[in-house]
Amino acid sequence: MKITCIGAGYVGGPTMAMIAGKCPGIDVTVVDINESRIAAWNDTDLSKLPVFEPGLDEIVGEARGRNLHFSTDVDSAIGEADMIFISVNTPTKTYGTGKGQAADLKWVERCARQIAELVERDIIIVEKSTVPIRTAAMIKSVLRAVGKEDKVKVLSNPEFLAEGTAVADLSNPDRVLIGGEDEESIEKLVSVYAQWVPREKILTTNLWSSELSKLTANAFLAQRVSSINSISALCEVTGADVGEVAKAIGTDSRIGPRFLQASVGFGGSCFQKDILNLTYLCDYFGLPEVAAYWKSVIELNDWQKRRFAEKIVHTLFNTVAEKKIGILGFAFKKDTNDTRESAAIYVCRDLLIEKAHLAIYDPRVSLQQIIRDLEYVGITDAQDLVKSGALSKVDSVDQAAADSHALAILTEWDEFKTLDYNAIFETMKKPAWLFDGRNIVDRKKASATGFDVYSIGKGESHGAEWEVR
Ligand code: UDX
Ligand code: ADP
Repeated sequence: MKITCIGAGYVGGPTMAMIAGKCPGIDVTVVDINESRIAAWNDTDLSKLPVFEPGLDEIVGEARGRNLHFSTDVDSAIGEADMIFISVNTPTKTYGTGKGQAADLKWVERCARQIAELVERDIIIVEKSTVPIRTAAMIKSVLRAVGKEDKVKVLSNPEFLAEGTAVADLSNPDRVLIGGEDEESIEKLVSVYAQWVPREKILTTNLWSSELSKLTANAFLAQRVSSINSISALCEVTGADVGEVAKAIGTDSRIGPRFLQASVGFGGSCFQKDILNLTYLCDYFGLPEVAAYWKSVIELNDWQKRRFAEKIVHTLFNTVAEKKIGILGFAFKKDTNDTRESAAIYVCRDLLIEKAHLAIYDPRVSLQQIIRDLEYVGITDAQDLVKSGALSKVDSVDQAAADSHALAILTEWDEFKTLDYNAIFETMKKPAWLFDGRNIVDRKKASATGFDVYSIGKGESHGAEWEVR
């Protein structure tokens, strides 16, 4: 069997590497119009792969050239395939109807048209990108228009991998979901995954349930984070500890312990996009109450990011102008170089608007990416700020800390969990503040060193002045 995947991004690259790795009998070609991305996937230096995922370099190194190929020749790869995965970007629309809410499907439609034009044999199209419900109907219409509807079967097979743990999620998934209408093509795709995933973990549904399940799963996960973040604010004013509350509720087997980590706010390419998409669908289908319910999950998240930046400004005597603040972490979570919708972008933007000087350290994110992200959220003079020294990317925690008034932890990279508080404290201005947006600081140790520590959801003791309410 020959599989082609259109789109060599965070989903297409790792997913196809895993299929090639687990199924030596299948020839897998990943194509992309982005030449530099494909060149990076083909780089002999495996540390230069465009997607950083622990363990991915090993899998790519083993399969590449054997039954895993990366190419820019999209047309040929479409022509030769038995099965084509569409794994292109589906970001939130930035223009026209549905701006800021609906998913932009222009890349998916382009792929469908390209396939419709080139395909001459019986093939299966697999929707891998997260798409709104009934996208498969659009793909089918494009094929119908050129008389190829019978040749091509469309399946939905949403990807549930989380970045940073992609390899583990792909090799041992909680479930694989396949939606479709044609039993034979469903079975073909099932037989691919069945080479390493137990059959009982491969769920098959109708097309629309599969498409909607992906949006719903992400909405539920994001909702848990917003729920615990809402409680974090209440903890801070009441003297409770959000970590203790999370543990107490998480031991209830009906609630469960995962995804209850209070933070500076969720980021990533999926949560916000998918909830916006869900709310758009609800509005479209005349369900404004349902739309409002899910929208509040995003509003709370926006507030949590804003609240963190405001806390820093307020604490530093209501002004951060020309004060150096060390930012620890820019990626949206640890173990990835992805910054899409990272809380750090918004916290940094708010601090730059207040004229703070930022020294950002992230082990995987480049200065160019930071500049692009800040420009996108309105810091149009980001390049100038770099030239003047008001914005910089540094190479270590020590450089971020030196002469700074405060450190803000925005990503939970492991190296931030074992900071040398004494050494850092020595080099900082006093009072030295530590703002922990990920609850990884040892508060006792840091306070004993002399730091003033703020941690999300950790209330101060209010002593006798505080009355019971
Ligand atoms: C998510 C889904 O988990 C995955 O199934 C889907 O395929 C894509 O979207 P991802 O965005 O890669 O994956 O990462 P995830 O681990 O879900 O984290 C998303 C965001 O929530 C991160 O910013 C993370 O830091 C934050 N988060 C997560 C919390 O703040 N607290 C938590 O308890 C969990
Ligand atoms: P995801 O996180 O969903 O994988 P990415 O943005 O990381 O999203 O990757 C999507 C990839 O799809 C990009 O590298 C983009 O260049 C590629 N792409 C988009 N449209 C096409 C197309 N018509 N043909 C080939 N590649 C495409």
